[in-house]
Amino acid sequence: MYDLLTGPGLKLSIGICLIGLIIRGVLYIKGLHWQLDRVAYTAHLKAGIRGALRSIFFWILPFGARGWRTQPLMTVLFFGFHIGAVCIPLFLAAHTMILQKALGISFASLNQTVADVMSWGVVVSAFFLALRRLVLPEVRILSGPYDYLILFLSAAPFITGLLCRYEIGDYSFFLLIHILLGEILLISIPFTRLSHILLFFLSRAQLGMDFGIKRGGMKGKGLNW
Ligand code: HEM
Repeated sequence: MYDLLTGPGLKLSIGICLIGLIIRGVLYIKGLHWQLDRVAYTAHLKAGIRGALRSIFFWILPFGARGWRTQPLMTVLFFGFHIGAVCIPLFLAAHTMILQKALGISFASLNQTVADVMSWGVVVSAFFLALRRLVLPEVRILSGPYDYLILFLSAAPFITGLLCRYEIGDYSFFLLIHILLGEILLISIPFTRLSHILLFFLSRAQLGMDFGIKRGGMKGKGLNW
């Protein structure tokens, strides 16, 4: 079972995830309205690309965007969750070995203490992100079962990963559950809101281009729009 999940199972789930994300990306770009969204992009590509990179940079920088600075607690939870959610699957020593064996890709491995802190960061932040949805009326009114399901789906591989790390309960059983949950997460990425892993960059790039060219971005440089 272990060999099946870490061999063909892993290749299949990574394949579905990547191909699905490519399709979602193409559909997103094709779905942009050529008059509303793209009319000035090709004519002012340089200003557009500068605006896109600027927007992405300040959003992925903790406290970089105004939205992050006005909600400091949310910012800590968001980055506490996301730093581990992105780094652990790729750079945990146990994962780099499996990726090397299955796909021939070799990444640098994280130091164990750093990996522990990041993994706990994901689990603790996910708990408080869920609590935030339950407790704050302005967030509760926008939250439904789907939001909790996505949070649970995202946190579950990290919870079971920590059970294996500290050898709590039946190690072999939790290891299989952990791998299975990780693969379910990978497969669900293109089909759920988790597609934001790619669409975040595309939508921020589009908004950044918009503000870099129109809406004052090129004011005084030939486009007073
Ligand atoms: C480069 C990769 C990623 C980027 C740029 C990104 C970005 C974002 C953004 C902008 C939000 C919305 C925050 C808000 O509500 O204001 C979000 C939410 C979320 N992301 Fe990601 N994300 C990434 C990767 C991931 C990964 C790998 C996972 C899962 C393992 C994940 C799971 C989630 C979840 C569960 C939420 C909702 C949190 C909540 O309930 O408030 N993200 N992400």
